[in-house]
Amino acid sequence: MEKTFLMVKPDGVQRNLIGEIVARFEQKGFQLVGAKLMQVSDELAENHYGEHKERPFFGELVDFITSGPVFAMVWEGEDVIKTARTMMGATNPAEAQPGTIRGDFGVTIGKNVIHGSDSPESAEREINLFFKEEELVSYKKQD
Ligand code: CMP
Repeated sequence: MEKTFLMVKPDGVQRNLIGEIVARFEQKGFQLVGAKLMQVSDELAENHYGEHKERPFFGELVDFITSGPVFAMVWEGEDVIKTARTMMGATNPAEAQPGTIRGDFGVTIGKNVIHGSDSPESAEREINLFFKEEELVSYKKQD
């Protein structure tokens, strides 16, 4: 089954949005298989955002994601990578549709509440960066 990496960013944690965000993915029918509240180190942030290294806002990205705790998660389900991106809405909250997470809660392009993997390759890379294998569980929902 497909897995994706989702992370409530420091602004989402500060604004008490963890529960709201987890509820949306639970209600959609996806399964939470890993989660932790954690402080991102500079090294992890630079690694995670490596593809943006040459962008002018790279320093801001690293400063923001390390500015306070994040809630890192792994979710599992059919087509979860693409569906989660749809549920998150456009990167820029000003362009995100109402009903999406960023459309409903996002403020600026930097403080946009949530990160989600954009492809199977980045999902695998990001899950392995943030989680050890033994931190993920595999379980069947009871009928
Ligand atoms: P995220 O999905 O975490 O991945 C890269 C992030 O870069 C993106 O969300 C935005 O928060 C951030 N970002 C993109 N464009 C800009 C920008 N112009 N200025 C600051 N941050 C940006």
